[in-house]
Amino acid sequence: MIKIAVLVSGSGSNLQALIDANLSGQIVGVISNKPEAFALTRAQQAGIQTAVIEHRQYPNREAFDDVMHQQLLDWDADLVVLAGFMRILSEKFVKAWEGKMLNIHPSLLPYYKGMHTHQRVLNTGDVLHGCTVHYVTAELDAGQALAQGVLKVSHHDTVDSLAMRVHSLEHVIYPQVVEWICSGTIQHTEDGVLYRNEKMQEPVQFCKF
Ligand code: GRF
Repeated sequence: MIKIAVLVSGSGSNLQALIDANLSGQIVGVISNKPEAFALTRAQQAGIQTAVIEHRQYPNREAFDDVMHQQLLDWDADLVVLAGFMRILSEKFVKAWEGKMLNIHPSLLPYYKGMHTHQRVLNTGDVLHGCTVHYVTAELDAGQALAQGVLKVSHHDTVDSLAMRVHSLEHVIYPQVVEWICSGTIQHTEDGVLYRNEKMQEPVQFCKF
């Protein structure tokens, strides 16, 4: 059974979706860099171990990442799931977990890497928006995309309404991708990412129109 560790900084609604999904893997622990993160309460209510590792207590990014790395090894984690984890990770940490670490980003990557994605979509007047689950690599929001949730932007949409609509898509696609990894439907190999035993060319898209 795949052992999953989830890294959080905030509310943890994606963590909740993973807990509620009854994955065939096991969530063995949740790490937060913020002691006040509500995600910790969600984990505790589900009987999942938690660790608070405050980045401010370490002299630099590498020292903080080393402590997280050790915690993940202690939990014997196979898969690391970033769910609203608001720290940039050092190259060494990312390399150590390459092919074993996922993130979800609130845009249709490669468009709108970085922050304020909903505002940027509205500013541009895009018709489509959504979220992307991808492997984490050293370049920000640039690892291979595995799945995307796609929605149509309406002229009534605001930053808040888009944030809410994208969030509910996240809660569908993130557990699905994690389950695909747990079940071997998605495999990270030296020859690339396999989906149902074939090389994945495009992320799987879930459309909510
Ligand atoms: C989500 O919008 C996700 O796309 C981004 O961080 C947010 C996390 O939300 N990476 P939550 O803490 O899971 O509610």
